Amino acid sequence: MAKIIVTGGAGFIGSHIVDALVRRGHRVSVIDNLSTGKKENINPKAKFYKVDIRDKKIANIFKKEKPEAVFHYAAQIDARASACDPIFDAEINVLGSINILQNAADAGVKKIIFSSSGGSLSSEETILPTPEDKISLPVSPYGAAKFSTEMYLHYFWKTYGMKYVALRLANVYGPRQSPEGEAGVIAIFTDKMLCGKQPIIFGSGRQTRDYVYVGDVILANLLALKSNKVGSFNVGTSQETNVVQLFRTLKKLTGSGASEVHGAPNGQEKTTCRIAGEQMRSALDYSKIRRELGWKPSVSLDQGLEMTVEWFRVHGQ
Ligand SMILES: NC(=O)c1ccc[n+]([C@@H]2O[C@H](COP(=O)([O-])OP(=O)(O)OC[C@H]3O[C@@H](n4cnc5c(N)ncnc54)[C@H](O)[C@@H]3O)[C@@H](O)[C@H]2O)c1
Repeated sequence: MAKIIVTGGAGFIGSHIVDALVRRGHRVSVIDNLSTGKKENINPKAKFYKVDIRDKKIANIFKKEKPEAVFHYAAQIDARASACDPIFDAEINVLGSINILQNAADAGVKKIIFSSSGGSLSSEETILPTPEDKISLPVSPYGAAKFSTEMYLHYFWKTYGMKYVALRLANVYGPRQSPEGEAGVIAIFTDKMLCGKQPIIFGSGRQTRDYVYVGDVILANLLALKSNKVGSFNVGTSQETNVVQLFRTLKKLTGSGASEVHGAPNGQEKTTCRIAGEQMRSALDYSKIRRELGWKPSVSLDQGLEMTVEWFRVHGQ
């Protein structure tokens, strides 16, 4: 039983973490500004602070709660939006993160678990699936902010002894993922198909990503909390799936009559903001987390997509 703060605990992944921690008897407080998260996602047994991670009030919450561990999941999550407004992205994803890390260190937090981005660091330029030590430097402001937060975690560990695990998540999907916005192709396609709308495949649809089920990601977080290890760990399946494959599987599962309609690469007709050279391929090697934390993915893409579609059938609008 520990006191734990989860930032972003009203969001997709954060809310599942809160549920898992509450189930295990931990005392959980959520910090979230509800910008993309939803109040109904927050476990009723958790305390809720509606505060922005950039706010000075964060210091009072840490003083009051005296948490032993922090899961830092609040973020601006859209890589394309980060290219439109890199300063806004950095204000939340770099400065907001430092605000959480500094307050955690000042409050004597023993362990911090951070939602980094594996997809932003993996590409065919080095090796696929990409291990942690063969990354490509990020090509989006979002990736740059995530990677720089890992450097700050290292600083706070070396200086304050605050241990950290940066989980470099692949593309996470599953129940509660928001179909609004531009991130989360599985949620967007599923929602549109179930509503009888036409999803758009960006570019050729041959770009690949590594899709990992949210239940497996929660397990990795719980193992990270228990472990004494410090550092960055990939959380993915090592498998590449392209957007056309996803479209076809989801079409079958939803019974949708949508046809394969293609738009501009990266949805760029919608915006003047560009990410030069968005990766065509990515997948994460998970050998390190398997070896050091005993984690491996247990839900296949077919099983995960089926569970996701079922959830959207019941909970979607
Ligand atoms: N979903 C993925 O595939 C994926 C992959 C890699 C990393 N991540 C990271 O995992 C974390 C959670 O992502 P998610 O998919 O659950 O997204 P999400 O949008 O559902 O969750 C983010 C949460 O953070 C909150 N938030 C945003 N800005 C905030 C701010 N300034 N102050 C306080 N709260 C704020 C939102 O309201 C939301 O509840 C993020 O850090 C994201 O970058 C996600």
